[in-house]
Amino acid sequence: MKNEIKVVVTGAAGQIGYSLIPRLIDGNTFGDTTVNLSLVEIPQVVSKLEGLAMELDDSYFPNLGTIDYTDNFSEAADGADWFLLVGSIPRGIVYNGKKIEERSDLLQINGGIFVDQGKAIGEFGNENAKILVVGNPANTNALIGRKAANNSSQTWMAMTMLDSNRAKSMLAKKLSCNVSEIKKMIIWGNHSPTMYPDFENALKDNQSVANLIEDTNWIDSHFIPNVQQRGKAVIDARGASSATSAAKAALDTVIACENATSSDDCFSAAVYSDGAYDVPEGIMCGFPLMTTPSGEIEIIRDLTLSDNARSRLNLSVDELLSEREAVKDLL
Ligand code: NAD
Ligand code: LMR
Repeated sequence: MKNEIKVVVTGAAGQIGYSLIPRLIDGNTFGDTTVNLSLVEIPQVVSKLEGLAMELDDSYFPNLGTIDYTDNFSEAADGADWFLLVGSIPRGIVYNGKKIEERSDLLQINGGIFVDQGKAIGEFGNENAKILVVGNPANTNALIGRKAANNSSQTWMAMTMLDSNRAKSMLAKKLSCNVSEIKKMIIWGNHSPTMYPDFENALKDNQSVANLIEDTNWIDSHFIPNVQQRGKAVIDARGASSATSAAKAALDTVIACENATSSDDCFSAAVYSDGAYDVPEGIMCGFPLMTTPSGEIEIIRDLTLSDNARSRLNLSVDELLSEREAVKDLL
């Protein structure tokens, strides 16, 4: 009999959901495993998931197991192995008469969602469940969820893979190579304009990208700000926040967690800080990560940060500390 896995996706009727969900069952993400889907939406929208379920049935996916859809998160969470927490409001829209400009403006709107979802994951999710928060502001939402879950055997992450993929694309264009040749593309800190895309530890052919691109002006005035602001650039161009690239990044994160990381690489996500790299404990911070052959997700701890990198990381850490302060009533 094939292995089975249960995956919960919130915001399943949204833009990211539509691109993400079919690819959870196409065999590329979980391999030859039967995937039972539990799709969650708010009550006003949940009936639309009947249409998505029909389309999934009609798409000939041999790995598709069961499809449930519900507005009851606790019911969905029962026995789940993976949680992709997408459901939340994006920026770029008008909410209560005000245009939402920054991801941090979403803190008060979206933060509360993760209290109840966190509690349910801690209580009903599998003991070794993995949780990827995509909804913004992702790092602090994940902190809220993790605290509410209060279950140390589960692994909470916030998504920075999209930033890492964006950075790889920009570097590959500059170096005239394929995106797959850029390794160790670490995003430190917050998924926000303070994030630090680490061009010094990033490698091509085992050499630091910093040594291959001697154009420091391009790094400082083009590469770093464009990675930091790429989400806004997409919103401005598309009139809606990134969806297919965000879905791909969520899938890439799942794949990175499900397979041992090769020794010449690492992957990016924000996890709970335990003092690694002198980042204060108790925030969800972007770090270099690896999946061990036994499936543990660990921070890679032996990289060096230059003074420039350290001061950029400190800025992002300060922002995460102030976001934590802003939601202290939810923690
Ligand atoms: P969307 O508006 O198209 O879809 C969001 C869906 O979430 C909606 O269908 C909504 O009904 C649902 N939802 C809201 N509250 C919910 C709840 N409590 N439970 C379940 N579902 C709920 O938005 P989208 O484009 O899919 O983006 C979703 C989120 O992802 C936004 O917060 C966006 O900013 C974020 N995002 C993050 C990244 C990243 O790199 N971390 C990238 C892109 C987008
Ligand atoms: C992104 O980086 O594309 C998302 O976080 C959406 C946004 O608001 O920028």
